[in-house]
Amino acid sequence: MTTEHTLAIENLTVGYGDRSVIEHLDLRIPPGRVTAIVGANACGKSTLLRSMSRLLAPQAGRVVLDGKEVHRMPAKELARTMGLLPQSPIAPEGITVADLVGRGRHPHHGIMSRWSKDDDLAVAEALEATHTAELAERAVDELSGGQRQRVWIAMALAQHTDLLLLDEPTTFLDVSHQIEVLDLLTDLNATRGTTIVMVLHDLNLAARYADQLIALADGGLHAAGDPAEVLTADCVRAVFGLESQVIPDPVSGKPLMLPIGRHHVTVPVTA
Ligand SMILES: Nc1ncnc2c1ncn2[C@@H]1O[C@H](COP(=O)(O)OP(=O)(O)O)[C@@H](O)[C@H]1O
Ligand SMILES: [Mg+2]
Repeated sequence: MTTEHTLAIENLTVGYGDRSVIEHLDLRIPPGRVTAIVGANACGKSTLLRSMSRLLAPQAGRVVLDGKEVHRMPAKELARTMGLLPQSPIAPEGITVADLVGRGRHPHHGIMSRWSKDDDLAVAEALEATHTAELAERAVDELSGGQRQRVWIAMALAQHTDLLLLDEPTTFLDVSHQIEVLDLLTDLNATRGTTIVMVLHDLNLAARYADQLIALADGGLHAAGDPAEVLTADCVRAVFGLESQVIPDPVSGKPLMLPIGRHHVTVPVTA
């Protein structure tokens, strides 16, 4: 099963005030696939995601979903097709986990329509999938960073959108929860055909879990494509200014990047 929404970024220039962070970017998000965006701190990954999800208007160019410019679409209409988990979401003070996750259902309600069994089911499934059901009655602001992150992911899942954009969804999570979240997103992609676009800091997890890897640098695209072609030592040097070795990951067969710092390096540096 795949959803056939087309999402394209056309000659996009976006930034803040009169400063541009991204300039003249063209990108096509493959429908029904998993795309990971990587790049150095402050290179514009969050800016790009905000702009794709209509939170930030382009200075030039456009973002087009199914032939419609997203910045001209009503917020609720867009929210039924595309969900966004921002990098640092802020919960209303004192809200419970169940209520926050329930807010994910908001785009599906009209002025008159009431909370339905479908909503209950969507929330219960989202809590279950993220292992947050036992937190349902707790206040979100009392949770640990990792618990809170899983609750935000639950809210995004409850929204039941065909496209899901996530800005660093694995931040604050320990390694087993990181893998759990990435496996969960992969399941969602496989079973519902959800198109996933996520910003990830961990290059190795990005290469393992993405069908398409996008590397941003200098306000634009450095490379995009199959992780095996994108994640190379040259790419890591160009994007992060870091020497590295890239070897096949013995677990997944995908590229595995091993950074070369100034210390604790025992092999001759071949780069
Ligand atoms: N709300 C804002 N107002 C002004 N500048 C911002 C704002 N948000 C981000 N920036 C700037 O835009 C650049 C890109 O930021 P961001 O997209 O958050 O980077 P990344 O997510 O890749 O770390 C940075 O220089 C940052 O300081
Ligand atoms: Mg960011």
